Amino acid sequence: MEFRVKDLALAEEGKNRIDWAEAHMPVLVALRQKYEKTKPLKGIRVAGCLHVTKETGVLVRTLKAAGAELSWCGCNPLSTQDDVAASLAKDEGIAIFASRGVTSKEYYDDIHSAMKLDPHVTIDDGADLTVEMHKGMPKSIRGGTEETTTGVIRLRAMQKAGKLAYPIIAVNDAETKHDFDNIYGTGQSALDGIIRATNILVSGKNVVIAGYGHVGKGVARRAAGLGANVIVTEVDPIAALKAKLDGYSVAKMNKAAEIGDIFVTTTGCKDVIVDRDIAKMKDGAILANAGHFNVEISIPGIESQTVQKKEINDHTMQYSLKNGKRVYLIGEGRLVNLAAAEGHPSEVMDMSFANQFLAVLKLAQQGQTMKPLVYNIDKAQDQEIALAKLQSMGVEIDSLTPAQKAYLEGFAEGT
Ligand code: NAI
Repeated sequence: MEFRVKDLALAEEGKNRIDWAEAHMPVLVALRQKYEKTKPLKGIRVAGCLHVTKETGVLVRTLKAAGAELSWCGCNPLSTQDDVAASLAKDEGIAIFASRGVTSKEYYDDIHSAMKLDPHVTIDDGADLTVEMHKGMPKSIRGGTEETTTGVIRLRAMQKAGKLAYPIIAVNDAETKHDFDNIYGTGQSALDGIIRATNILVSGKNVVIAGYGHVGKGVARRAAGLGANVIVTEVDPIAALKAKLDGYSVAKMNKAAEIGDIFVTTTGCKDVIVDRDIAKMKDGAILANAGHFNVEISIPGIESQTVQKKEINDHTMQYSLKNGKRVYLIGEGRLVNLAAAEGHPSEVMDMSFANQFLAVLKLAQQGQTMKPLVYNIDKAQDQEIALAKLQSMGVEIDSLTPAQKAYLEGFAEGT
């Protein structure tokens, strides 16, 4: 079995960390227990392009237990946890091609190596694998899944352009994914990344958050909870209004640039912080990105006014600017929660990856009869996952009586 990881000697450490994640992912583990005997994925080849984290390790174990043959690669050059990759190669026997800190060429080489499996199903985060699959399509493909907002946007654009060649299930668009993973997962882990990289006191700081969508809301709430004064920048008037009424200041980026101590981009858009903003920043400003690609903070915009660059620690680069001030960029402007921390907590990935597993199952069984469109997760699957999560937490809820159901579905009863 072919694989390419940084250091196989890290496997034991990786295994211990996957075991830890597994102990915090009851919904996914219950799915494994349900399907490991019947093996509904027997004979199905699955190529995954997801951040190689300990939680992904649990998903890989679950797919394997259900009978799938797997190949894997990372979906970001800086997010692979090398110990987890080593364990997946050594302990699970997966054809994995992933290392932390790869160049752009190595990153795409890893994707192409994972594609050699000729998958029936692809699992993607950001759509890089799916786009590569479309350039030289392996023969057996039945369908794919997509984990994140940016990937779903890219794939819907492919569908609109008539270029999507196989069905995609938009896992991101499940409520039990984006209303939890994007909000609570990124909210906590993005702050975790900034703190691990800088150990900065968040309390009392001006934290500028670009974008007030799912991720932005989560980061804003956690930053405010740590005592920060949050300033939101937006391009959508409704999102901006929500931020204002949630109690935050709202400003244009170029104004916020003058007062911010910490900047976090969460938009999925490019050029959100550019050279003219950087020129206005205070000495010591810290910049981080939590959006999918490293295009939100213009790195050329920083470099063009830099006289000296110095690595402060593994995650933080100091840029001394022509105007005499210094700005600090965390994790090369890549997803700060994965570049400088461990990504989302396992408890939240439990629901995201339960959705992934069930989507793979559906595509393996029905993909050949589905049109090449982007599909949403069934509401019933969302409800089932939420209920299983609540049960794992020991939480009970009420259910509608027949009379209540009829009332909610009818129009006859008024005042
Ligand atoms: P969303 O669509 O809910 O929110 C994005 C918000 O950014 C919108 O309100 C939009 O109006 C705003 N926006 C767009 N361009 C802007 C600009 N130039 N300036 C200011 N605001 C702007 O998307 P969501 O789910 O919050 O995802 C955002 C990004 O985070 C995506 O790239 C997504 O893939 C990524 N993501 C990253 C995660 C991580 O682990 N770091 C986890 C989940 C999502």
